[in-house]
Amino acid sequence: MLRKLLIGTMLAGGLVAGYSATTYAAGGSVEVLHWWTSGGEAAALDVLKKKLESQGVTWKDMPVAGGGGEQAMTALRARVTAGDPPTAVQALGFDITDWAKQGVVGDLGEVADKEGWDKVIPTALQNFAKYDGKWIAAPVNVHSTNWVWINKKALDAAGSKEPANWDEFVAMLDKMKANGITPLAHGGQAWQDATLFDAVVLSFGTDFYKSAFIDLDPATLGGDKMVEAFDRMKKLRSYVDDDFSGRDWNLASAMVIQGKAGAQMMGDWAKGEFLKAGQKPGTDFVCIRFPGTQGAVTFNSDMFMMFKVGDDKKAAQLQMASDIESPDFQSSFNVVKGSVPARTDVPDTAFDDCGKKGIKDLAEANASGKLFGSMAHGYAVPAAIKNAIYDVVTRHFNGDIDSKEAAKELVDAVAAAKG
Ligand code: GAL
Repeated sequence: MLRKLLIGTMLAGGLVAGYSATTYAAGGSVEVLHWWTSGGEAAALDVLKKKLESQGVTWKDMPVAGGGGEQAMTALRARVTAGDPPTAVQALGFDITDWAKQGVVGDLGEVADKEGWDKVIPTALQNFAKYDGKWIAAPVNVHSTNWVWINKKALDAAGSKEPANWDEFVAMLDKMKANGITPLAHGGQAWQDATLFDAVVLSFGTDFYKSAFIDLDPATLGGDKMVEAFDRMKKLRSYVDDDFSGRDWNLASAMVIQGKAGAQMMGDWAKGEFLKAGQKPGTDFVCIRFPGTQGAVTFNSDMFMMFKVGDDKKAAQLQMASDIESPDFQSSFNVVKGSVPARTDVPDTAFDDCGKKGIKDLAEANASGKLFGSMAHGYAVPAAIKNAIYDVVTRHFNGDIDSKEAAKELVDAVAAAKG
């Protein structure tokens, strides 16, 4: 056991085959715009901050609170418009491509070539971290959105059975309700509603998810199955408490942590909150794939998109990119964040059971063609279409329109956003 652990630590500590660290900066500073302000997120960010500080690089923090990053993107627009972009910005998928099209992003080719990023970062991530063949962003992690986080005591009180399909999920939630707790912890914010919708749509099959959110097929978006998916959303709404409106995602996680609620459907950043609260997977909480989505993964990857900076700031920027892709950082950061490494050669030794499952699920889904970008988190469609979908999903979730109307409006909203 000890030997296994030592090997794992050594591997993650920089002995990954073919990897050699680079030193670019002795000093300098990076200004970093991000939305990692919850307890778990801040703890993870601190791993990066400390690594850079240990190399003499000063960290100028620009946090913009708001899960999912919408507010951060608004703040970024103001900075770029003023001609004063930060050094590095946390960003997702199509947003990165949109910024690259504006011609304002930097070039990480020097460090990416030297360190062989092409060989170890999955293509699904390269598609967004590169633009026009050039590396413009450093992927930090891979999150996935089709998880459920369940309070272990609440699960035991509800009969201990981990739900494997929709009917079992509903049965579990009903028992939790009967046991006097809020079955489903949720925050009424458009991106959180959309996170639920990601998983619900995926639970109707990977072909359905792909047809709806990747191909944007009108017949799928407006069809009977989509009406059924909206009906499931309505059912889920019935398990949420009355105070959900506007609640931040981490406060919903806290309800599960404290046993006030039974479960939360959320990406694996939620695990960061459980860990920060001292809880352990298997003992205090349980992680399962959203029932009906086993074997498939909807992913998002946080990337630090690098902006064009003056020569005085370039070395520190490259240092930050190099640090992010180092195997030891990929391990230590993602263990805290709840996500899995953005490179394929990082050992899973340091990860807990949920992390190990996340790494395995990702590799298997990738190999079997069941890995898809998350609609809710910017990896399926550009922001304009994503926001159009958000709007319909949230109005339906809040009871403003019924399921049939929602499916119909989805078709129109997507068509209008596509332009
Ligand atoms: C996601 C991001 C995660 C997490 C979450 C909640 O978009 O990828 O890292 O921070 O928002 O803020």
